[in-house]
Amino acid sequence: MNILLIGSGGREHALSWKLAQSPLLGKLYAAPGNPGVADHAQIVALELTDHASVVTFCETQHIGLIVVGPEAPLVDGLTDSLRAAGFSVFGPSRAAAQLEGSKGFTKDLCERAGIPTAGYVRAKSLEEARAALTRFGAPVVIKADGLAAGKGVVVAMTMAQAEAAVDDMFDGALGSAGAEVVIEEFMIGEEASFFALTDGATIVPFGSAQDHKRVGNGDTGPNTGGMGAYSPARVLTPELEAETLSRIIAPTVKAMADEGNPYSGVLYAGLMLTSEGPKLIEYNARFGDPECQVLMMRFEGDLVELLLACADNRLSALQPPRYSSDVAMTVVMAAQGYPGTPKKGGRIDGIPAAEAGGAKVFHAGTTLSGDGVLSASGGRVLNVTAKGPSVKAARDLAYAAVDAITLPDGFCRRDIGWREIEREEGGV
Ligand code: AMP
Ligand code: GLY
Repeated sequence: MNILLIGSGGREHALSWKLAQSPLLGKLYAAPGNPGVADHAQIVALELTDHASVVTFCETQHIGLIVVGPEAPLVDGLTDSLRAAGFSVFGPSRAAAQLEGSKGFTKDLCERAGIPTAGYVRAKSLEEARAALTRFGAPVVIKADGLAAGKGVVVAMTMAQAEAAVDDMFDGALGSAGAEVVIEEFMIGEEASFFALTDGATIVPFGSAQDHKRVGNGDTGPNTGGMGAYSPARVLTPELEAETLSRIIAPTVKAMADEGNPYSGVLYAGLMLTSEGPKLIEYNARFGDPECQVLMMRFEGDLVELLLACADNRLSALQPPRYSSDVAMTVVMAAQGYPGTPKKGGRIDGIPAAEAGGAKVFHAGTTLSGDGVLSASGGRVLNVTAKGPSVKAARDLAYAAVDAITLPDGFCRRDIGWREIEREEGGV
């Protein structure tokens, strides 16, 4: 079967690597892809917002499955156009992707379905937002309703910070994403991510992970898209996972179906493990990046079979997915300046040496020039990924691989996995 993969990050390199291992795969195409994806796929130039041209491409190349990696084409309804043309698509419809595209939509759904989450108020004007802040007091969380590339959430520890945040959002700092905000109660606990595949009826748990959002060692500095991750998140015990499935994921899938927006694809739940049990922080309508890289490192089944069954509403017919019992870890090598403006053009060397020890280096923001020189072209440049029987073993292998790579003007966090390693060393 021929497959078209949409996206260009480390997530898509990991997906292409795993799709390419399937005996079911005929030819893999990717748009826009990256030099790592190009090891497994033919890169094609498609205008992703021009749905008709994507449909024509899929018809011409006899595509049997389209896998959508990032959120923007989902929220833009690319899957709807492809499904309307008769294609099997992995990824939710535009209406279902509102679970990521509108924080207010998700909070209202949680309220209707009795799903545990932080108390909230939706505010469409500065006055409403100010009134809500007075009601909640500090600390409080302010979120732009729409997609804001990871910049739409302010955790305000003081009222002054909270007021500045709502002023900024209604001033247009985030464009239309901030035209409406959600003000939320501040929750206390450890965070974990949980992934489930669903075809709108059947739910298949697909593993857990924890990431490191802050740019600096010790969880300091500004938020990023993620500087590293590991899977599984052992803090999400089998009991807490069962509770997450029964109290959060299953009621969400049911409510979406009941309300006429069945959700098909991967549902990525950001959870706060509070003293009252897991509560939903937010949903994403796609795999996490870099969480996908560690999930793919542990997944031992046939990804084509699984994603196709999800797209075709046949998940109930499959055996549960198989995973390695190993821990997987990924360390993000980023370009100086990230998460602000990254320095581009640094020449990357040493990937074969890094992989010689068993690690896998996924490309996130790289460019390959005509003369074969690989250079940095994005904020997050490489995702150095390894697995091992313990977090420490996975970490040691990942960092040995990091140290084999030269990335001038690059940096990475040196403490990915610190929480788990402390727990491992403490025998917890
Ligand atoms: P989100 O984009 O909604 O995942 O939020 C980004 C980060 O903000 C989360 O990973 C949390 O660290 C933090 N956060 C979001 N909502 C809350 C909340 N209600 N209470 C405490 N922290 C939160
Ligand atoms: N790593 C966080 C995300 O993909 O949203």
